[in-house]
Amino acid sequence: MKPVYEIAVVHGDGIGPEVCAAAVQVVKAALGPGSPLHFSEYPAGAEHFLKTGQSFPEPTFQACREADAILHGAGGLPGVIHPDGTEAGLDFTLRLRFELDLYANIRPVRLFEGVPSPLSGVKAGDIDYIILRENSEGLYAARGSGALLRGEVAVDTLVQTRSGIERIARKAFELARQSGGAPRDGVRRVTCCDKANVLRSYAFFRSVFDEVAKDYPDIATEHALVDAMAMYLVVKPGHFNVIVSENMFGDILSDLAAATVGGMGMAPSAEIGAANGFFQAAHGSAPDIAGKGIANPYGTILSAASMLDWLGHKHGDERLNQAAARIRRVTEDCLANGLLSTDLKGRASTSEITRSVCDRLTAGRD
Ligand code: IPM
Ligand code: MN
Repeated sequence: MKPVYEIAVVHGDGIGPEVCAAAVQVVKAALGPGSPLHFSEYPAGAEHFLKTGQSFPEPTFQACREADAILHGAGGLPGVIHPDGTEAGLDFTLRLRFELDLYANIRPVRLFEGVPSPLSGVKAGDIDYIILRENSEGLYAARGSGALLRGEVAVDTLVQTRSGIERIARKAFELARQSGGAPRDGVRRVTCCDKANVLRSYAFFRSVFDEVAKDYPDIATEHALVDAMAMYLVVKPGHFNVIVSENMFGDILSDLAAATVGGMGMAPSAEIGAANGFFQAAHGSAPDIAGKGIANPYGTILSAASMLDWLGHKHGDERLNQAAARIRRVTEDCLANGLLSTDLKGRASTSEITRSVCDRLTAGRD
């Protein structure tokens, strides 16, 4: 337990500042006047790059590395790019992942009461699984080191290491152990999602996963090819409990999965390493709706709840875990009571949702 937890906050671009401010307010309301969290804001992102030529200033990096946790809104703006064509506003997220070794990207996918799903015949609770995205290697690890030959041939390299696969596989089994199993049958199950039938690196991913699985005889295991998985997430989402996959596959499947539970606004994430934790929703900066006050803050609020959980467990601080549980209960209650933003086919603004969540927390209505 620490007297003060330093939280490095980066608002970022587009709707980033709106959803980030909402999450900070909610955390403050959940912890009340004696809150042990101290928030400090630092710049990074595409806007900052346009103003200063720097997308991720060194002092921001130092502050993030030293902080107890990092909270981010969203980053990136289309057209704000490096000479190689990649987006400058993504440097913050990607450098943190690689340089702080945030290898586990935990993305809960859950259909809440009151939230419309485009899938027919599913109700709240029918979809409840975790996509565990390997976050430190895979294809995206080539960021910044790809090659373009004579303007004719471009190459990026997919990297998988034994130690990297082992640790993410272990994390998957541990998450399954802590869970209540898949909604459809209650079975604790880890699905290894790969493309082992085509590429050697994915066949290796699968074989190392199978070795690790032997240490977890109490958890059911299976394999799914990523193309089939895209279909399964639509036709039998209730079958899944924990899905573990390589970085890029996890990225793509996350958006598909989010769509089944209300969209990107309902997709929280927690990016965890041995020492650091980084929390942001899985969505982008949505510049088309920025500044209109209609962004869905639930994904970032739920990511902030994961931040409190992670900090609470790490430091043995029950206050933080209780606050996380309260935020989840209140969020669920608000959604069930129709407090929906426009992406969820409702009319509530970002500030109406935030105020309502905060009021319930302050009044102890959870
Ligand atoms: C995500 C995002 C990121 C990714 C971007 C912001 C770098 O899409 O977290 O899923 O591509 O990994
Ligand atoms: Mn993504």
